Amino acid sequence: MQSGRRSILSVIDEYFDGYGDLVDIKLGPVRIFLTRNPEHIRHCLQENHMSYGRSISYKFLAYFLGQGLLTSEGELWRKQRRLAQPAFHRQKIAGFATIIAGAGDEMISSWANKTTCSLSEEMSHVTLAIVSRALFGTDLKNESEAIGRALTIALDEVNRRSISIVNPPMFLPTARNRNYRGAVAEMDRIAYGIIENRKRTMEAQGDSSEASNDLLGMFLSARDADTGEAMSNKQLRDELLTMIMAGHETTANALVWTIYLLLKHPEVEARLRTEIEAIDNDVSLESLARVPYLQTVIEESMRLFPPVPGLERLALRDGELGGVKIPKGSVVNLVTYSAHRHPNFWDDPESFKPERFAGANASLRRDQYFPFGGGPRLCIGNHFAMLEAQILLVKMLRSYKFEFAGEEPIPQIQVTLRPHNGMPVRLIRL
Ligand code: HEM
Repeated sequence: MQSGRRSILSVIDEYFDGYGDLVDIKLGPVRIFLTRNPEHIRHCLQENHMSYGRSISYKFLAYFLGQGLLTSEGELWRKQRRLAQPAFHRQKIAGFATIIAGAGDEMISSWANKTTCSLSEEMSHVTLAIVSRALFGTDLKNESEAIGRALTIALDEVNRRSISIVNPPMFLPTARNRNYRGAVAEMDRIAYGIIENRKRTMEAQGDSSEASNDLLGMFLSARDADTGEAMSNKQLRDELLTMIMAGHETTANALVWTIYLLLKHPEVEARLRTEIEAIDNDVSLESLARVPYLQTVIEESMRLFPPVPGLERLALRDGELGGVKIPKGSVVNLVTYSAHRHPNFWDDPESFKPERFAGANASLRRDQYFPFGGGPRLCIGNHFAMLEAQILLVKMLRSYKFEFAGEEPIPQIQVTLRPHNGMPVRLIRL
């Protein structure tokens, strides 16, 4: 890759090419198995998901996300997932189209006086505005920088802790720990502020008002079937921060990598622009269905650059993957990035070919292509994210052309797969 720097992911790919589909690494006392094999993936995510729990990285994530949907397990997770599900039903998601389009238009207008930007920052701002408006009926646009900063510090710490053998306890007043605690305090301020505001609105307007219609409203109205108790403020805070984190960085990265790939493949970009012309500025679901190429471009881009590049699990009991013993307590990492480029399962895996997702190939095997994970812990926001990515791409491509304005990005893992330099681009108004 350019500039002599390499992504850790290409190193992992070389391990797989050299040692086979299951690579066994020892990190101090911990055994880590990396796999890219579809059978192993199906085994861990679907057929045998009960034998694999949340690993230590999720425990680190839980330091700041608490027990939200992403990090919780068992009965609490089941209950919360059931409560959250209706906020992501197809009809609800279709209703988000207007919110997404509105935020997209605002972003495009804000580019009027700019000639360059960091695409990562722009995508982060807009996806944060969308998730907060759609799920909590509030606008976090003005908090975007504070949240971005706090999340970067927190995720950096999670990442560092996940790959270190010894970690200083959180209560020690080291500079890093203080910095991290500051980031958590900032996120707390934002989350509790949203909750208090909404409680006041619902008290004033009543539970059956508009205000109880979105995810936050549903959580606030929910009562425990056994105890009749409302959800605690702490649980609400955990769910809110989880949605903020899981619901914007991922989609932002999917968009950045899609634009990156379009810039590297002008023939794909040209075809996409022509097809998008046909729907004009209409981004309704019916209209988007007339541009199937758009969805395949996003799918193919998430194949090459999955925003969540690997899924980590903890073996809860002794098991086996392809004849190799997996002792209880081992970490199994399903390396999405490498599975999506597996030479035995993908024709010409390193090439960007959206047509591989077209027509009869539309539903590729879930154990071979799983940008949203799989099994019971499948991403709850997958349809939301796909709609959001399609609408924002239509908005951006109809108004602007992009050119690289700096080094080409190298993928860097910070829980999600980010471009190392935020991908600076020149904005050329059409
Ligand atoms: C392109 C965008 C997205 C990608 C690639 C993505 C990817 C993923 C993946 C791989 C998981 C599974 C993690 C695991 O099993 O270890 C996941 C879970 C989750 N995602 Fe997404 N996601 C995206 C967008 C969203 C959005 C828009 C939301 C919410 C608005 C969201 C909310 C969640 C939540 C709450 C979970 C945890 C679900 C559970 O365990 O029950 N995600 N996501």
